[in-house]
Amino acid sequence: MKQTIELKVNGELYKVEIEPRRTLLEVLREKLGLTGTKEGCGKGDCGHCTVLIDGEPVCSCLTLAIEAQGHDIVTIEGLAEGGKLHPLQQAFVDYGAIQCGFCTPGMILAAKSLLDKNPDPTEDEIKEAISGNLCRCTGYVKIIDAIKAAAKQKGG
Ligand code: FES
Ligand code: FES
Repeated sequence: MKQTIELKVNGELYKVEIEPRRTLLEVLREKLGLTGTKEGCGKGDCGHCTVLIDGEPVCSCLTLAIEAQGHDIVTIEGLAEGGKLHPLQQAFVDYGAIQCGFCTPGMILAAKSLLDKNPDPTEDEIKEAISGNLCRCTGYVKIIDAIKAAAKQKGG
């Protein structure tokens, strides 16, 4: 039986009618049209579906939408402000850290969660923060360089 739930995504409240077994990933993509969140493995292995819930990266494929009620959800669509890319997004572009782009939204959100808590991370801390996010294309070096550059910029 369907149920109406309320989700706060990127600062906006959305009411949606869903079956309780629907994942947050399905609701974001299919009900709210926020297709920046990608589906890879669908079982918690790739991190492509990463969103932030109360600032923490979570796999939206493993999270039921009803469980996310009452929390602050941030997707990749919530990062740019006033038509300007978030510094992490800009650094990924500048450092060639995007190839096919499929891992990029989840990777950037995992990095955002890290930099919000730790603005000057070591390389090992960056590697740890993105360890749940797989990239088949870049070999990770450019991704790590981009995150370092964004951290530097944030720190001034
Ligand atoms: S799609 Fe969620 S972890 Fe792979
Ligand atoms: S850029 Fe293709 S998977 Fe990372």
